[in-house]
Amino acid sequence: MCGIVGFLGKRNASEVLVEGLSKLEYRGYDSAGVAILNHGDINVKKCKGRLRNLEEKLNVEPLEGNLGIGHTRWATHGEPSDVNSHPHCNGNETVSVVHNGIIENYLSIKEWLTSKGYEFLSDTDTEVIPNLVDYYYEGDLIDAVIKATRKMEGSYAIGVISEKEPDKIVAVRKDSPLIVGVGEDEYFIASDIPAVLNHTRNVYLLEDKEFVIMTRQGIKLVNEEKEEIKKEIYKVTWNADAAEKGGFEDFTIKEIHEQPKAVKDTMTSRIVEGEKIKLDKISLTKEHLDNIDKVYIVACGTAYHAGVVGKYVIEKLAGIPVEIDVASEFRYREPLMNDRTLLIVVSQSGETADTLAVLRDGKKKGCRVLAVTNVVGSSVSREAHDVLYTWAGPEIAVASTKAYVTQLIAMYTLALHLASLKEKLTVEDIEEIKKEMLELPKKIEKVIENKEEIQKFASKHYMERDMFFLGRGLDYAIAMEASLKLKELTYIHSEAYPGGELKHGPIALIEKGTVVISSLTQTALRDKMVSNIQEVATRGARVMAIAYEGDTEVEKSVEAVIYIPRTLDLLAPVLAIIPMQLLAYYTAVQKGLDVDKPRNLAKSVTVE
Ligand code: F6R
Repeated sequence: MCGIVGFLGKRNASEVLVEGLSKLEYRGYDSAGVAILNHGDINVKKCKGRLRNLEEKLNVEPLEGNLGIGHTRWATHGEPSDVNSHPHCNGNETVSVVHNGIIENYLSIKEWLTSKGYEFLSDTDTEVIPNLVDYYYEGDLIDAVIKATRKMEGSYAIGVISEKEPDKIVAVRKDSPLIVGVGEDEYFIASDIPAVLNHTRNVYLLEDKEFVIMTRQGIKLVNEEKEEIKKEIYKVTWNADAAEKGGFEDFTIKEIHEQPKAVKDTMTSRIVEGEKIKLDKISLTKEHLDNIDKVYIVACGTAYHAGVVGKYVIEKLAGIPVEIDVASEFRYREPLMNDRTLLIVVSQSGETADTLAVLRDGKKKGCRVLAVTNVVGSSVSREAHDVLYTWAGPEIAVASTKAYVTQLIAMYTLALHLASLKEKLTVEDIEEIKKEMLELPKKIEKVIENKEEIQKFASKHYMERDMFFLGRGLDYAIAMEASLKLKELTYIHSEAYPGGELKHGPIALIEKGTVVISSLTQTALRDKMVSNIQEVATRGARVMAIAYEGDTEVEKSVEAVIYIPRTLDLLAPVLAIIPMQLLAYYTAVQKGLDVDKPRNLAKSVTVE
């Protein structure tokens, strides 16, 4: 996820662009840059770090010119660095491009262009775009951009400028957002409306493959065949603050709604039907794996909970025993790590102090370290031997939601990869799981659509003092995460127990009115879980169950059932956790709490 802007008018472009980018920092903030066209020359200023670094650079060396493009980056391909920052240019800097999205086939395009004499400086996927535009340029920028996009697979919103047509910006989107702002004698492009709201409330909301040709004479929208598109101007009536959240009340609910896309992005180019799983930053081989006799997964908080699912699925699919621990315990228990250990660390931020300490200790002791992280260029990603990035985009809300579900996807992907290295599953088995994984984004959308039932339950129970989560197998793994989410967002005391442990003590806490939440997605354990539900219901508990569509029998003993679409039991955590996230969210909203910034918590725990 990145933010792009473009400006054509009479004012200083770099000032307008930087101001626009400041409204898009929520989309990424590891580097920023602008490219300005002045007297037919493109001048680029870009640097790693927050936008203020770019501002300081521009204060020292201002850029003249009233046409340009700008970018704030959230790294996916290539770590945050000056050279990987956007805008990117072709070799002789006659074309400059800003891009949000992922060009999935960039490696093959890069090879193809290299064979034609093109050279590349960065590790990014984006750099192929200005070079493609240069390659196809035959006197008309829009033709070159259309041809370039025909070659590109994946998602993109791009802004393109060229020295050969110095009074023009060309832009287009596919599966990444892009809007056009129409001011008085000045025009804008942006990833999101807040970037233009200080200048205009008149915008075009672009659809996929609608091309923008912006000149001093005005704006023309065309399709791939260059036929003009007539579009209504959309008048923005809301304020910038709400718009940064995409119209959502807060980042938490926005990020919950972003989960289908985050899951899809994390699978992109890795899980493809009929193709082998591709993990570009993982060089772990069958030989490495044959030499490994122990696997640890170590993490904190929500990431630890994703690791619990990871343990289960790696053991089941790859047949390798896995131990899991929280980093703050693991590091002080003199763990038995050596050169026959595979250490998997999971961290959204990639900066969590305890997790990083475990990684460093593991490396010292000779372990092979594999990191699952969301932040490209983070300490964890730089120091591990292998990295599996989750592509959730920036997670702004303190309580993790979309990062967690992408960590689950990373765990499945890794388990399948290990299983195929170990030759534990047949190609058909792997294909079946991949096929079901590819269905998950749509199914998550369906679960989110069904939020009213959860809202109703939350509005009845938001004043509770305690809530309990029960589950067995993978349902217990997500019960732990659900319980953490409820604590964090609502300050309601909650505990997660394995269903089978109930009679060993916790059942003493159940009395008339106690709220119990339980999911029933593990077919082999379903009947046992139903018995546990009956045991608490008989003692007066008010139960909300999460069950597969069609499992109506469970309605008899519970106050509410939230149905989720059927999937493989192994993948069910990705769907079953969503109602529980929504329950925590709506309960917190009912209580009038600050959901994005719960008390006492920080997004990145960089101290012990
Ligand atoms: C809970 C939450 C935390 C983090 C934990 C680890 O919603 O976000 O429990 O999961 O602090 O953080 P990372 O994943 O950045 O290492």
